[in-house]
Amino acid sequence: MTEARALLVGTGICVPPLEVDNVMLSRIIETSDEWIRERSGVVTRYYVEAGVSSSDLGAQAARAALEDAGIGADEVDYLVCATMTPDHYFPGTGTLIQQKLGMRPLPALDIRQQCAGFAYGLQMVDALIRSGIARTVLLVGTDVHTSLMPFSARTFEVLHGRDPGPLSPEELEWNSRFRHLLVLFGDGAGAMVFRAAEANGRGILAAALYGDGNHRDILYVPGGGSQRRPFVTCEMIQAAETVPVMDGRAVFKLAVTRMPEATLEVLRRCGYSAADLDLVIMHQANLRINEKAQQVLGLPDEKVHNNIQKYGNTTSATLPLAFHEARQAGKAPAGSLVAFTALGAGLHWGAVLMRV
Ligand code: ACO
Repeated sequence: MTEARALLVGTGICVPPLEVDNVMLSRIIETSDEWIRERSGVVTRYYVEAGVSSSDLGAQAARAALEDAGIGADEVDYLVCATMTPDHYFPGTGTLIQQKLGMRPLPALDIRQQCAGFAYGLQMVDALIRSGIARTVLLVGTDVHTSLMPFSARTFEVLHGRDPGPLSPEELEWNSRFRHLLVLFGDGAGAMVFRAAEANGRGILAAALYGDGNHRDILYVPGGGSQRRPFVTCEMIQAAETVPVMDGRAVFKLAVTRMPEATLEVLRRCGYSAADLDLVIMHQANLRINEKAQQVLGLPDEKVHNNIQKYGNTTSATLPLAFHEARQAGKAPAGSLVAFTALGAGLHWGAVLMRV
């Protein structure tokens, strides 16, 4: 009898309805389509309406993944949710998704590894299934970045063309303080369902994951946490301390080396090389990062699926969103060897290898 492995049996996504292109963003930020495309590759991204949360998107993606797998919500015995934009400071978002799906009480875990969250989630799924703790696991990645954008309600109305604008020079100046960061992100969710199976070489094969707090200050949110008392104040909000701080160049340099290194490591551990891969799904933070990583790995275009052009960086949702699309496009048939790799705040990074 072979060991039970975590076999992928369903995927689903949720993309919110409001498409935002670069020209629309230039109504509310001093930026241009040309700058955003050239530096990052992003052309459009999707935003939720105010009041729609990470658990709302996550529940929809989860529903779609369960339907794809042909599995009822009551058959799931463990739920793992990756998000960096939880609905609340507490409780976690996992239980909110469980409740929205009408699931029976079950272990529901939140993980907080930002852009590497879904990769960490895949290792968690592997461990839960191989240890026998769970047999059917739902893994959700969901983020609503618009909640981190320090824009006024009117800014969003001007953005979506429901207010003719223009914004005042003061509002434009305030919004533009964050332009290097905010043009990159979009909202979204993705989910995968795994089942324990005697998979004969299929399933999650290995993970090489890392965290290093020495890089914490290149990407973090200074205000709104236990380091402060109280954890959030009006002054913090006025000083924009609840908005992420990002040293884009430092993150860029780390991403182009660490993602390929981790991918090669996880391949090596399983006795493979980059040439054995059928598909690589990389985190979508910047198309230029992925082009460089692809070059280091020596992979042809057909083995890499990027969709940052359409969705921007959706953090925890990125890997499942890109994989779902690649699978729909026939790029990941049963038996194909797929590497997932990501890097994000923490610093957290790594790679996971899966035989679909
Ligand atoms: N529109 C127009 N101009 C802009 C914009 C914008 N949106 N943003 C910045 N600029 C300007 C700057 O003001 C600066 O102008 P200056 O030269 O007059 O001072 C100039 O463009 C260059 O700015 P940089 O920040 O140095 O631009 P860079 O080439 O480094 O690109 C970017 C910035 C796109 C953020 C890039 O560094 C990057 O993508 N880094 C990686 C980001 C990443 O991976 N983040 C991970 C997030 S994942 C997570 O865990 C949440």
